[in-house]
Amino acid sequence: KFQLQDEAFQSSGVSFAESQQALQLSPSIYERLGEEGLLELSTLFYDRVFRDDRETWFLNIFSSSTKQQAIDNQYRFLVQTFGGPELYKEKKGKYTRLAGRHANYNIGRRAADRWNQHMQDALQSHSILQKDSEARMALENYFQYTAHYIVAASDFMRPDQLSGGTKIDEGRIW
Ligand code: HEM
Repeated sequence: KFQLQDEAFQSSGVSFAESQQALQLSPSIYERLGEEGLLELSTLFYDRVFRDDRETWFLNIFSSSTKQQAIDNQYRFLVQTFGGPELYKEKKGKYTRLAGRHANYNIGRRAADRWNQHMQDALQSHSILQKDSEARMALENYFQYTAHYIVAASDFMRPDQLSGGTKIDEGRIW
């Protein structure tokens, strides 16, 4: 029934339940970092992505966006997801649809791993998260799992996969 969740767990080593702990922390991640701290995280992350000249196939995935756009989109998403105002909704509409919004990119497991390397690096360099290992580890798990969920789900949604139609996930396509 929850085939995509299973696939995400098998690829990332993080269960759905573990991944959700970041959303349930008290105080929330938003309260711990504030908008400034979440902007710092997205900036640290995309600084690393757009500097990635060792793995050009990875940087190429981002070729249709500017760094500033990418930072702004992710920042709004993080604020909204981790307990702040709905900044993402203001810009992009009601649903975050993470898997759907990634379906047009060619994202496989290697890309998820590279993405997570940059994110882990960003988490470790972050001025507040450096000293808050509870929040840092919760975010690490959340991102690990979610990146691999995106891979599983966008695989499922690619046109050449749609005719088979054997994978169902109880409507859990964000
Ligand atoms: C957007 C790649 C995983 C959140 C994007 C974009 C690319 C991309 C190329 C377009 C940049 C832009 O203009 O905003 C990837 C790759 C991933 C990955 C290769 C590896 C699996 C994730 C994860 C999250 C995430 C794990 C969050 C947990 C977002 C958000 C946007 C975005 C919120 C903005 C979408 C929009 O509103 O258009 N991603 N991403 N991504 N990504 Fe990812």
